[in-house]
Amino acid sequence: MTGYSIKTGILAAVISVSAMPLTAAAADPENGKELYHEVEIEKTIQGIEYTDANCETCHETSFFSREDRKVTSYAKLEAFVEGCNTNLDVGWFPEDVSDVSAYMNKEFYKFEK
Ligand code: HEC
Repeated sequence: MTGYSIKTGILAAVISVSAMPLTAAAADPENGKELYHEVEIEKTIQGIEYTDANCETCHETSFFSREDRKVTSYAKLEAFVEGCNTNLDVGWFPEDVSDVSAYMNKEFYKFEK
């Protein structure tokens, strides 16, 4: 009985330790997709008061693939996502910005990392 509970305790400790670096390292485009689509921004845009503006209220997705887009590398993509996040008080944490960048890269920009 006690032997059993000790073993599961050790196992849980091993799993949580080995899982940590994995989740910290890789940005998660699936989570980014949710954040990107579910964000609701409170802002007046061109005279209209929004409580549920999203990333496509200002720029349609075609904006991300136009020829003279400003984002020319993965690093710049993260910088612009962070820029809009900060300017608009979206409130995404750095991990969220990484996840959204991973999603946008997969969907629109397609840079090699
Ligand atoms: C209030 C309007 C507005 C909203 C809402 C907005 N953006 Fe932006 N975004 C801009 C403007 C303006 C630019 C161009 C900035 C520049 O030219 O320096 C831009 C540029 C960008 C770019 C770079 C585009 C390129 O040239 O390739 C990315 C990426 C981006 N935004 C991501 C986001 C994300 C993600 C969200 C949702 C959280 C968001 N934006 C919401 C106004 C907005």
